[in-house]
Amino acid sequence: MIKFLDLKAINATHATEIENAILRVARSGWYLRGEETHKFEEEYARYIGCRHAIGCGNGLDALRLIFRAYIEMGMLCKGDEVIVPANTYIASILALTDNQLTPVFVEPDAETLQIDDTLIEKAITSHTRAILIVHLYGRCAYTERIGDLCKRHNLLLIEDNAQAHGCMSKLKIENEDLKTGDSNHPGNNPPHQVHQEENSQFSILSTQLKRTGSLGHAAGHSFYPGKNLGALGDAGCITTDDDQLAATVRALGNYGSEEKYIFKYTGYNSRIDELQAAVLSVKLRHLDEDNGYRAAIAGLYYKGIANPLVRLPRYVSPEHNVYHLFPIFCNERDHLQQHLKEHGIETLIHYPIAPHRQECYREFAHLPLPITERIHSTILSLPIGPTISIDEAQAVIEAINNFRQETR
Ligand SMILES: Cc1ncc(COP(=O)(O)O)c(C=O)c1O
Repeated sequence: MIKFLDLKAINATHATEIENAILRVARSGWYLRGEETHKFEEEYARYIGCRHAIGCGNGLDALRLIFRAYIEMGMLCKGDEVIVPANTYIASILALTDNQLTPVFVEPDAETLQIDDTLIEKAITSHTRAILIVHLYGRCAYTERIGDLCKRHNLLLIEDNAQAHGCMSKLKIENEDLKTGDSNHPGNNPPHQVHQEENSQFSILSTQLKRTGSLGHAAGHSFYPGKNLGALGDAGCITTDDDQLAATVRALGNYGSEEKYIFKYTGYNSRIDELQAAVLSVKLRHLDEDNGYRAAIAGLYYKGIANPLVRLPRYVSPEHNVYHLFPIFCNERDHLQQHLKEHGIETLIHYPIAPHRQECYREFAHLPLPITERIHSTILSLPIGPTISIDEAQAVIEAINNFRQETR
């Protein structure tokens, strides 16, 4: 059986380091808000390229805390509109509606599967205050056009980075931004890697590679076990360069308290625990290598899959995709899934029903979102991960290429 994702094998790869970390915490007598959390937050902030990383209970909480904090800071109000891709995991939408913010669904591009940036401006109204981009499947959703729209319309840019730890975006930096290191605008934080390209007085000077999670004003990350950076249970975090936002989400996640037994906000209990933080510190050290392996498997799929019944998403270079998932499309999706199962290959559907079609969001069911619905009815995720072997990937390719309409 070729598993969709073998978590046991993935964590076994780093067994000694993980077990040592767990033992260290178990014996320490300190289980929350301690040294391990502090260390992981520092390491992760440095990795993403942000001033702050604040651990919390899970990825949904990370997003909920960000939006709630902006409400507490007076930068968002209940009823404000937030633009969001229509094809996302339900948590992106729950984070908005939980804060009485109104999601405004924008269709994705059918080739890239990311929010179609050419449709965003039409969706902006006098009530729009933010754009929530989702780096779905591990692919970078940020574009220069989105950054420009946020600047022009004075919108917050929030990233849902639950599926894209380690992914990058290549940004153009103009002369002035380079000199000033202007960090007030999305996409303009201090550069990670700057490449001089062309030395014109007027035009773009350089490009910089920045990680998703550092491209906007704030980002929510999930460390759900199956993510590229996965804990051994639930965990999440918020990254931002904004000191006030960082302090507010930290307080909100700690019952609303900055100082013991003094409650500034009606908060939540959403904290990362020392065990998860210690395990994540271990796994963060291996993340780039794991992502590199995922990209190699994806390369085999792109090269090998050739079946007129199957379509692949548009290829982007490995720095822009960390291949959290490898989705393909087929009009005969359910038959293809059955065919692969008969060949011992486990696949999953991300996701069978779009958020606006879910029972909990009946008020959005009437929205015409044909591209989103088509994606949800034809998509299938192939096995991908740091422990799938080359032979297994070849077997997946072969089984897909042998799929015929007659196999029904
Ligand atoms: C795109 C996206 N956003 C948010 C979440 C929520 O993360 P969590 O499961 O840690 O709450 C997930 C993961 O499940 C996700 O895939």
